[in-house]
Amino acid sequence: MCGIFGVIGSRESSSLILDGLRRLEYRGYDSAGLATIQYSRNNQFGELFTRKSKGKLINLSNLLQKKPIQGHLGIGHTRWATHGKPNETNAHPHLDFSGQIAVVQNGIIENYRDLSKSLQLKGIKLISETDTEIIPQLIGLEIENMLGKGLLANGKTLLSAVQKVLTLLDGTYSIAVIWSKAPDALVVARSQAPLVLGFGEGEFFCASDTPALVGFTRTVLPLEDNEVALLTPLGIELYDENGNRQRRAPSLFKGTELFADKKSFRHFMLKEIYEQPETAQLWIDRYLPSDSPSENSVAFPITKSLVEKIDQIQIIACGTSRHAAMVGAYLLEQFAGVRTNVYFASEFRYSPPPVSSNTLTIGVSQSGETADTLAALRMEKERRDLIEDSNFSFHQLGITNRLDSSLAREMDNVIDIGSGIEIGVAATKTFLGQMLAFYGLTLLFASNKQKRSTKEILELSNDLRLVPKQLVDLIKKHDALSKEIAHMFVETKDVIFLGRGINYPIALEGALKLKEISYIHAQGYPAGELKHGPIALLDQHVPVISIAVPGVVYEKVLSNSQEAKARDARLIGVAPNGSESAIFDELFSIPKVSEWISPLLTVIPLQLFSYHIAAHKGLDVDQPRNLAKSVTVE
Ligand code: G6P
Repeated sequence: MCGIFGVIGSRESSSLILDGLRRLEYRGYDSAGLATIQYSRNNQFGELFTRKSKGKLINLSNLLQKKPIQGHLGIGHTRWATHGKPNETNAHPHLDFSGQIAVVQNGIIENYRDLSKSLQLKGIKLISETDTEIIPQLIGLEIENMLGKGLLANGKTLLSAVQKVLTLLDGTYSIAVIWSKAPDALVVARSQAPLVLGFGEGEFFCASDTPALVGFTRTVLPLEDNEVALLTPLGIELYDENGNRQRRAPSLFKGTELFADKKSFRHFMLKEIYEQPETAQLWIDRYLPSDSPSENSVAFPITKSLVEKIDQIQIIACGTSRHAAMVGAYLLEQFAGVRTNVYFASEFRYSPPPVSSNTLTIGVSQSGETADTLAALRMEKERRDLIEDSNFSFHQLGITNRLDSSLAREMDNVIDIGSGIEIGVAATKTFLGQMLAFYGLTLLFASNKQKRSTKEILELSNDLRLVPKQLVDLIKKHDALSKEIAHMFVETKDVIFLGRGINYPIALEGALKLKEISYIHAQGYPAGELKHGPIALLDQHVPVISIAVPGVVYEKVLSNSQEAKARDARLIGVAPNGSESAIFDELFSIPKVSEWISPLLTVIPLQLFSYHIAAHKGLDVDQPRNLAKSVTVE
C-alpha cells in the first residue's frame, strides 16, 4: 500500500506530483506529503522543501495553495499507516539528520528496529515512529562518509549511497530518494513492491502504479525486483542489485480506461455495481461466445494439455478475491470433479508441502499486487523448484484485473477478468469478474475431464449467457429497495449473514462488504453453524440475512432461517419470491435460477444493501477508513 510518485524534468513538480498522487490515493489516504528541490543559479546546490498533512490528499493540496513550494524535481507519497499513527510527523517524506535528503517508501522495512538501534548508537535521533525514517538517516551517514573520502556531491554519489544502504534493508519495499546537493537526480529502488518508471518529453517519472503515469506518458518500464534507477533530466540509468547497468526497452502502455469518471453516480462503488452487467457481457463475448466452434467451449488462454494434466487445484487469495475463489472451489469440485483447496494467502506458508506434481496453483488478485498473495505464490514456486524429480513440474495460473501487475508478470498463465478499472475500495465488479473466471475454468475442466454430460455443460453455458440481462433487472430493483430500507439499519450494531453450499462464500462477502463500508459488525456463517454458537447473539436488534436459493440446500437454509426468526431476529431473505419466502420480514427477491449460477445474482442485493446503509450514514463509501485497495505489505 502507500503510493509513491516522483518527477524530474523542466516543469514545476508539485502540481504534477499532486496529480499523480490523486490517482494513487486508492492505495492509502491517511496522510500525504511531498518534497521538492529548488535549484538556485547562485548556488550550485538546491534547496529542499517539504509539505505534509494528515488525512486525505485534499488537505495537502490546500496546504500547498497556502504555502506553495517550487522545484523541477520532487517526490510525493500518500500513506496507509503501518508503523506509527497517521499524523504529520509520521507522514512521508522523511528526512536525514542534515535535512537535505528526503525519502518516500511503500512497504515495510522488517529489520528497522535493529537499524534504528545502530543509528541511535551513532547519535542519530529519530523523529518519527516509522520504519521508513531509518532509510534517509542511513543514506545521510553514507553520504557523509563518501564526501569525507573526497567524492563529489552529485547524483552518482547519491546513487552509490542508496545502493549501499539497500544491502542493509530487509523487507518488501520501493523507495524514491532526492538530495538537495544533487538537484538533477532522483534515485528509486524496488524490492518486491511495485514501482514503474515513465518516460515523458524532457521529464521522467516514477510511480507505484501505471494509471498514475498515464496522464503524463504512456511509455513505461516496470522496475524488476532489486533494481535501482537514477533518473536525471537527460534520461534513466538502470542497475541490477550488483550494480551492473541494465538495458531494457520501455513499452507502450495500451490500457484505455485508466481515467475513471464517476459519471452521474454519487460514488464510484455505486457506478461499479451498475457496471456489472457490462462486465458479465464483455466476459461472455470474450470467453464464451455463442458462435464459437463448440458452443460450450471457453476461449481461455490455457492449453488443453495443461488442463488434462491437472488433478488437484490450490487457490491462494485474500479478502473478496478469496470469496470468489471459494465459489470457484465449490464449482471445480462439485461440477467439474477436481479436488480444490482455498487458502488465505497470509496463512499459506504454513500449508503442507506439495505432494502431487499435477497440482495447479491459482493466485487470485484483482490488483495483482497484494503482497500476501504474491509472497505465497513465490514461496510455492520456490519449494516446488527444490524438488529434485524431473517429473515434478510446477503449474501456475493468475486471475487478475491488471495485466500490467506483478502477478500477471510472474505467472505462466493469466486470465484477465477484464472488469475495467475499479476505484471503490470495496470490490464489486471485480468480484463478479473473478467468479466468472472460475465459471470458465469449471466449464473447461468439466468438459476435458468428462465429468459432466454435454447437456449439463451446455446448460451451464446457456445459463451464464442469461446473466447480464438478469443483472440489469436485479440492480435496478434492489438499488431502489435498499435505498428505501437503509434508514432502518443505521443504528444496527451487528448483522449475521447465512448461506450454505455455493452461497456460503456469498454470505462471507455480504458481511465483508457491510463491515468495510458501513463499519457495522457483520459475520458470515454457514447456515448450519448458526445453532453452534452465533445463535446466542440473536435478539430483535440483530438482523439475520439469509441466502436461500432452491437447490440441494434450500430446505435446510429455510429451517436455519426459522431458527433465527424464533429468536426474534429481523429476518431478511435473498431468495426467489414464492410461498416459502413468506417467512422473511424483508425480501431481496432474485429470479428462479439454477443453484450453480446463483452466486452471480445473490451478491447483488448484498452489495447494494451495504452501499445504501453506508451512503445513508454519510460515510466515505469509496475510501473507507483504515482500508486500501492495493495492499502491498504482508
Ligand atoms: C484489500 C481490499 C479488499 C480486497 C483485498 C484483496 O484488503 O480492501 O477489497 O479484496 O485487498 O485484494 P486483491 O487486489 O488481491 O484482490
